Amino acid sequence: MLDAQAAAVAFDQALTRTTGLPGDLIPLLQAAQVAFGYVPVSAMERIALTLEIPLAEVYGVVTFYKQFRLTPRGRNLIRVCDGTACHVNDSMGLIEAIDEVLGLKPGQTDEHLDFTLETVACLGCCSLAPCIVVNDETHGRLEPRKVRTLLNKLKKQAVAERSGAATV
Ligand code: FES
Repeated sequence: MLDAQAAAVAFDQALTRTTGLPGDLIPLLQAAQVAFGYVPVSAMERIALTLEIPLAEVYGVVTFYKQFRLTPRGRNLIRVCDGTACHVNDSMGLIEAIDEVLGLKPGQTDEHLDFTLETVACLGCCSLAPCIVVNDETHGRLEPRKVRTLLNKLKKQAVAERSGAATV
């Protein structure tokens, strides 16, 4: 995800490179998502205008494919596995611990865009159940206490980064 100005420039460039053919719809949506971190309505409107297709068609494609997001995602992505091996090893306890620390339920992002919580069916490391992935790092054989410790640390970092960014 780019900062707002860089995102707008990158998306403008993608729009100027388009052939204007309907086949450009998905590449343009992908360009919007790479730039903004999700597909804003304003980007859908500009794509519809550029390709001369109805906005409803653009919206239909965005909502059809799981790869597209309609809301911004937090800078830190937490994915909790709720597959069978993790579920029987108390993945729900991990989800509750995350909710306690971050106030998030699966599918939610906090107001500062620090964290997004998602659940997945299997992370492919069932022998480490229950496990979560924070950004690209896998944490296995977890229990709620360990999750609280991990997330309290990440939360402090996120707040520090945000305050640092505000003073620059
Ligand atoms: S079920 Fe959780 S990693 Fe496979």
